[in-house]
Amino acid sequence: MSDTPVEKLTEGDAAAELERLAGEIAAHDRRYYADDAPSVSDAEYDALRRRNSAIEARFPGLIREDSPSARVGTEVSEKFGKIRHSIPMLSLDNAFSDEDVADFGKRVRRFLKLDEAAPLGITAEPKIDGLSLSLRYEHGELVSAATRGDGTTGEDVTRNARTVADIPNRLKGDVPDIFEVRGEVYMSHAGFAALNASQAEDGKPIYANPRNAAAGSLRQLDAGITRRRKLNFFAYAWGEASAVPGETQMDVVKAMKAMGFQTLDLMKRFETIDGLIEHYHQIEAGRAGLGYDIDGVVYKVDDLALQKRLGFVSRSPRWAIAHKFPAEQATTVLRDIEIQVGRTGALTPVAKLDPVTVGGVVVQNATLHNAEEIERLDVRVGDTVQIQRAGDVIPQVLGIVAEKRPAGTEPFAFPDTCPCELKTPVVREETASGAQSVVRRCTGEFACPFQRREHLKLFVSRKAFDIDGLGEKQIDLFYDDPDFSVRTPADIFKMRGKDAAGLKKLKDKEGFGEVSARNLFDAIEARRTIALDRLIFSLGIRHVGEATAKTLARAYGSFEAFHEAALKVAEGDAEAAAEMDALEDIGGAVITAVARFFSEEHNRRLVEELVRELTIERVEKPAATSPVSGQTIVFTGSLERMTRDEAKAMAEALGAKVAGSVSKKTDLVVAGPGAGSKLKKAAEFEIEVIDEDAWFVRIGRGGEAG
Ligand code: IVH
Repeated sequence: MSDTPVEKLTEGDAAAELERLAGEIAAHDRRYYADDAPSVSDAEYDALRRRNSAIEARFPGLIREDSPSARVGTEVSEKFGKIRHSIPMLSLDNAFSDEDVADFGKRVRRFLKLDEAAPLGITAEPKIDGLSLSLRYEHGELVSAATRGDGTTGEDVTRNARTVADIPNRLKGDVPDIFEVRGEVYMSHAGFAALNASQAEDGKPIYANPRNAAAGSLRQLDAGITRRRKLNFFAYAWGEASAVPGETQMDVVKAMKAMGFQTLDLMKRFETIDGLIEHYHQIEAGRAGLGYDIDGVVYKVDDLALQKRLGFVSRSPRWAIAHKFPAEQATTVLRDIEIQVGRTGALTPVAKLDPVTVGGVVVQNATLHNAEEIERLDVRVGDTVQIQRAGDVIPQVLGIVAEKRPAGTEPFAFPDTCPCELKTPVVREETASGAQSVVRRCTGEFACPFQRREHLKLFVSRKAFDIDGLGEKQIDLFYDDPDFSVRTPADIFKMRGKDAAGLKKLKDKEGFGEVSARNLFDAIEARRTIALDRLIFSLGIRHVGEATAKTLARAYGSFEAFHEAALKVAEGDAEAAAEMDALEDIGGAVITAVARFFSEEHNRRLVEELVRELTIERVEKPAATSPVSGQTIVFTGSLERMTRDEAKAMAEALGAKVAGSVSKKTDLVVAGPGAGSKLKKAAEFEIEVIDEDAWFVRIGRGGEAG
């Protein structure tokens, strides 16, 4: 029956169909709004709603009390307090074609009794694919923030909203006593990719799209999690206002911008439907480059007096409509699952697909994240899969179309060795909670051809060897170039060869002349002498970041001592491991990683070859009795006599710890001009604040010229 055209339904069929649709739409709403985990695409959902409305239009007598058309969103979750919206938060009617948009124009004119020639300004702006939020400001101060909920009552997410950088706690300028700003909370593509990568790493569920990620992130009981998730906000509408700051939609948006909000720069005003549609196509064409998801263009009658006359019908305003983009989801056949190895050796399963156009882009690969995700979706080679592409984020597999599974498919067996020719065993690390990580990693490090190039890039990076003129681009060049084929760190120091021969080779390469070639070799030579902590960091051992490398360097003092300890740890020497474990901030994860690194023959050889090229500076133990030893120091504002890195190195050499944010544990804040929130925090905790000059005096270098 669900396929029967609406015109052909009998009254009995229609009643049954409306009941089915009410149940189905409510279930989708629950999954979308309350669980942040939809199971159908927006296009499928819209189709259900459209069918429901069409049947209701034909049989108005059958409209149910629980009709989806009279409802927006879903009931409020029990997790949060409730806020009743002083003015309901409504939804928008949808247009799916140019014709629908023309009809909208006609409807508006008819309602206002404007003939076709009468001027009528309509704005067009992107429809952000996030979740709507209402922010209530009283006398310029943010007092509450509520989600849409069922349109009448939303969830109180005030604490979480305060952590969103785009949401000002205090409005700028002269603002109405009461002003409710409404708009969309969303997550950028970059934020989404980073969040899912970290979710995958921690074995937590993957978010289907940035919108669900934004909703899931805003609706956290722990506002600290919301803060870390990096949400954004665009203001585009308002609710209660003691005075509306403008006479047109455009005016008020400008006013909200002046109050300190991000607004939609792509918003434009047009006098004709053709103008609106042209802008729609322009926005659509620029969609992938925006950095966040939009799912259509919203048209709004600009004049607020006209908006007021037009009013509302059931759940949406008569003065606005959303012109939706075609869905960015598609189904295709999964031909293979390929395992790719990332920079850190993480094995990522990639779906190889029959090419399919999704939102105007041909897609052949999609990520499957990890083995658990493959198992959860039960994806098998040969399956028809539903995929989704959101802007420039890597497309992902959402699920399978179970009915289309061919006979004889097998569950995917995740490999237990790296796909590289070394066939190194794959390991799973322990997570902080002691569980096995879902991420499988190749232990080949520098030896694994997939990781080598990335390792080399880390090796020359700023915090490692920091070789002037040798960055990622040059590593790619020298890696692929048969004259140099730089494969290991030691190869970098061998590039010069016999000076003249090396120069001759380099001089003719793209981007190099006599001078730059010589400069590069000089820069490499200059780095033959290196501090031990930089050397340890540059090896790219997992979990050994800058700070850990420093701790190890300080503790062992010389390369020989560190090397000996690391080899012993790799051999399973309990005493050596216990000694390392006793170091501050070093625990099981680092020790396991050091052991793994040095138990690989390739890595051992690589380190030995490298060290032969270098002079390694012992790291001096920090002075035990400097005026700042043992203190935790925060540098803030712009420093004029030293760079941030220099300041940090200086303080650490004097035995202090440098922190990035002010807390109760901070002993001293060194503030330059322009310092802001950290100064406020320091005052709150009554922490001593000094300027840069006083810092030099304190550490006994007061006489040095600034
Ligand atoms: S105006 C009275 N403008 O789309 C309705 N809504 O499908 C005011 N949305 O609930 C809404 N971008 O969450 C408006 N530029 C935009 C929008 C936008 C996204 C959302 C909003 C709304 C939903 C309707």
